[in-house]
Amino acid sequence: MAVLEIKKYPEPVLKQRAQEITDINGNLQELIDNMVETMYAAPGIGLAANQVGELKRVIVVDITAGKEKGNLIVLVNPEIAEAEGKTDSEEGCLSVPKYTSIIKRAKKVLVKGLDRDGNPVEIEAEGLLARAFQHEIDHLEGVLFIDRLSPIKREFFRKRYKKILKELNK
Ligand code: NI
Repeated sequence: MAVLEIKKYPEPVLKQRAQEITDINGNLQELIDNMVETMYAAPGIGLAANQVGELKRVIVVDITAGKEKGNLIVLVNPEIAEAEGKTDSEEGCLSVPKYTSIIKRAKKVLVKGLDRDGNPVEIEAEGLLARAFQHEIDHLEGVLFIDRLSPIKREFFRKRYKKILKELNK
């Protein structure tokens, strides 16, 4: 297993749509293991394959960031089958360092997909887990949480992020 480099906005791979997985093979298992290790090393509560430069529809989520055992969820070809309600909460992203903002998301979601062995799974989620699923599945569409900001907030973000990037690249 290896900790992979996390792509940072504005790298193009973050704006591209990831492709459906048609073959559950050894390469996929390796990618998943590396994504889990990368998420825990960050530490983060979720990671989509785009963020490590792979345009494949895989996400890993653990809302305890590995602090509690048994919370890791790996989903292949995940989709939001149903969504209910609205809620505002603060959100950040490993690909957009040092920036957070309040983002409106559905309160509850039903997510469908495959587990890492290709078995169909359905997960009902609310709260932080529902938010994490929506955020990570957005990544697979090439959508970042900053794309969901109002035009004014987006303008503030651009200015601030320029400084953030400069700091990071020093
Ligand atoms: Ni993210």
